Amino acid sequence: MINNGMLGVHYHITKFGITMNRSYDGQYIWIIGASSGIGKALALELSKRGATLALSARRQDQLEYLKNECEGDNHIIVPCDVGETDSTRHAFETIQSQFPQLNSCIFMAAIYSTHDGKPKDISFIQDMIRVNIGGAYNILDSIVPYYESQQAGQIAICASVAGFKGLPTGQPYCSTKAALINLCESLKIDLGKSNIDVKVINPGFVKTPLTDKNNFPMPMIITADKAAHCIANDLLTKKFEIHFPKKFTYLMKIIHLLPNWLYFIIARQIR
Ligand SMILES: NC(=O)c1ccc[n+]([C@@H]2O[C@H](COP(=O)([O-])OP(=O)(O)OC[C@H]3O[C@@H](n4cnc5c(N)ncnc54)[C@H](OP(=O)(O)O)[C@@H]3O)[C@@H](O)[C@H]2O)c1
Repeated sequence: MINNGMLGVHYHITKFGITMNRSYDGQYIWIIGASSGIGKALALELSKRGATLALSARRQDQLEYLKNECEGDNHIIVPCDVGETDSTRHAFETIQSQFPQLNSCIFMAAIYSTHDGKPKDISFIQDMIRVNIGGAYNILDSIVPYYESQQAGQIAICASVAGFKGLPTGQPYCSTKAALINLCESLKIDLGKSNIDVKVINPGFVKTPLTDKNNFPMPMIITADKAAHCIANDLLTKKFEIHFPKKFTYLMKIIHLLPNWLYFIIARQIR
């Protein structure tokens, strides 16, 4: 490792090549959706880089296990259900009582199901909206007044490339992710005045329990460790959008630019 302590940047030779690792020393970070997949890998990565973490999700046993795996001693677990306003408020109060400050809040929680293109049970659709979109609003309800009072802080919300365009058999998951991208764009404009950094995270395919359910080919799929590495490298930059793997996400961005008539012809072939 080559250390440039002045800039808080370390250069590492890793399985991803020579990489620049940003240091999170002194940073207090709340990861919501930390019990598995990308959120879990991100917790491990950020703890290695010096962050102190509050770890949230519903499964307390998984959070306990993760806390013991993380580097450093002062991490806390704060189980909550993001779909319930009282639960997220209580979690934030717990964090405030145990941490001297909160620098960043990363919303990774989501539910997903494989899709067959047939109409879904309305209670299932409402549940996905309640967790994926409502969960983000519940977190914002607590975090924004706190950040505004200190005129600083970061919110990073995980959406998806699945939110770029309506995908074949993608409902209701794609629509929740499109809503989150739109939400982050508005927040970026509205909260910029208060010195609050807003980021949207748009992953392509990542191998996690969420995608293990898929029975279709997932082009350019990456590991959760790689995804966590990309997020950890970009959270401390000025970028609004964190997206990866780049070859896949740029392809999706090009598709997004196609005229609707051409997009629908191509999308119907994939279905
Ligand atoms: N994997 C991919 O290819 C991919 C691609 C694009 C975007 N994403 C997004 O990346 C994020 C992480 O996904 P992942 O692939 O890592 O999936 P995952 O392994 O299924 O993780 C989802 C996390 O969300 C938590 N969660 C779900 N419902 C919750 C609730 N009501 N309250 C609190 N926490 C809840 C889960 O914990 P509990 O069950 O313990 O509550 C778990 O920690 C999601 O936003 C997903 O949409 C993933």
